[in-house]
Amino acid sequence: MGNGFDFSVERLAGLGVPGGKAPASESGRYTGQSDEADLNVGHYKRSPQDGGINVPLQNGIGAGTFYLETFGCQMNEHDSEKVAGVLLARGYKQVERTDEASVILYNTCSIREKAAQKVFSRLGEYRTTRKEGQVIGVLGCVAQQEGEDIFERAPWVRLVCGSASYRKLPELLAQLEAGGKRITGLDLDTDETFETEITRRDNPWRAYLTIIEGCDKACSYCVVPYTRGPERSRASASVLEEVRQLADRGYTEVQLLGQTVNSYADPSARRMRFSELLAAVAEVAGIRRVRFTTSHPRDFGKDIVEAIETVPGICEHVHLPVQCGSTNVLRAMARTYTRDEYLEKIALLHGSKRAISITTDLIVGFPGETERDFRETLSLLDAVQYDGAFSFKYSPRPNTPSLKMDDAIPEEEKSRRLAILMEKQREIQRARNERLIGETVEVLVEGKSKRENQWSGHTSSNKVMNFTSPEQKLLGHYVQVRVTGASPNSLIGEHTKA
Ligand code: 5AD
Ligand code: SF4
Repeated sequence: MGNGFDFSVERLAGLGVPGGKAPASESGRYTGQSDEADLNVGHYKRSPQDGGINVPLQNGIGAGTFYLETFGCQMNEHDSEKVAGVLLARGYKQVERTDEASVILYNTCSIREKAAQKVFSRLGEYRTTRKEGQVIGVLGCVAQQEGEDIFERAPWVRLVCGSASYRKLPELLAQLEAGGKRITGLDLDTDETFETEITRRDNPWRAYLTIIEGCDKACSYCVVPYTRGPERSRASASVLEEVRQLADRGYTEVQLLGQTVNSYADPSARRMRFSELLAAVAEVAGIRRVRFTTSHPRDFGKDIVEAIETVPGICEHVHLPVQCGSTNVLRAMARTYTRDEYLEKIALLHGSKRAISITTDLIVGFPGETERDFRETLSLLDAVQYDGAFSFKYSPRPNTPSLKMDDAIPEEEKSRRLAILMEKQREIQRARNERLIGETVEVLVEGKSKRENQWSGHTSSNKVMNFTSPEQKLLGHYVQVRVTGASPNSLIGEHTKA
């Protein structure tokens, strides 16, 4: 998955990847390019509507109020949007400060150790500062992974709930309200994806939409199959219906999400292929851009490239995590492809009539990774010429097969490899972005700087564009921008009147 993390956060070396906010899978959304900055933390800023009261007033705490903070990938961000929608519909009110909340919820990420540690340090802050009657709840991957052990480590936590049980959240909170001391919702064996009609979306132009939950790939280093369960796809008609509703509400860009989005398998009789679904979403009246993340190389085929080529509304960007350039390490990671097989997929993208930008995720220091293996990753960067990469030091995770593998790489060596990798990728990105100088590209305007006439947004290829325009009302509009400058992480441009 990749980091959520929107445009306000420069992700993936300037490329927003759903795989965003950092990954509870490959579809993470990251705030940076490296291990050190992989964790996005956010909470919703739009003021929620007033609602009824579900939780009694205590100690001056607002009644029926919740504070929700999100760690991790775009899947988590979007789950939080759904959680907020469910609670708002039940009359809760969302607040921006923990001391105003009757319920404090953390939607957590456990993809790497550092992410999980951050959650426990945040929980630790409440040991002394929490107010009596305040419910503190842990949601998401750490909840699913640690389960009731969280109560032992942080006895002041009263709710532990994994993503498959979010629909039950109001009932779980009601049980606490009725005197329950501690409640868990940790089922994984659900056939359903977490669908709700009342998702409270945070970005006014780009709407995230989960089309497949969970992961069946079982990479040997990854917790996602344990924390999010097996793959479950949502029926194509239901996806398209939600896209139509989003278009009616003014969204022009949708991003289809899934840890392995292109493994989508329509459970309905229609049996729509992923590439057909992409095209159908792009055809919905009012939708101008369709993004998708994260793609798994095994299920990435020619039909997806052809869909991008023939349907202009499908964005020219593919996030295709490789993890490593050495076939030996890929085998140990159980990635299901060799270096050459991955490069065949890249050849499809390089051969496209559209200039499709390619981004990836990389792990250095997997157990047994030799200097030679690492050099193969570096040479893969030369061969592919990625437009962005999230790179991480291998982090041993509970329950994963790689935990028991020999030949751990020392931390300093992991850091050395990461620094070399990032420096090389930075220079590749600089060169790739500089090559765009002089071109004119379409930008969805998503932000306005305090500086006069200064705007920002994303290109179809998901590059961050900072540009000047004398116009006043550009937010949410698509404009033509001439590229006048470039850095490894973003482009600089001028609004042109085409
Ligand atoms: N250690 C380091 N990186 C990991 N990722 C997943 N699990 C681990 C781990 N145990 C990375 C992969 C994945 C991204 C979302 O997070 O690169 O694609
Ligand atoms: Fe991605 Fe592999 Fe983890 Fe699945 S198991 S989310 S494919 S890294």
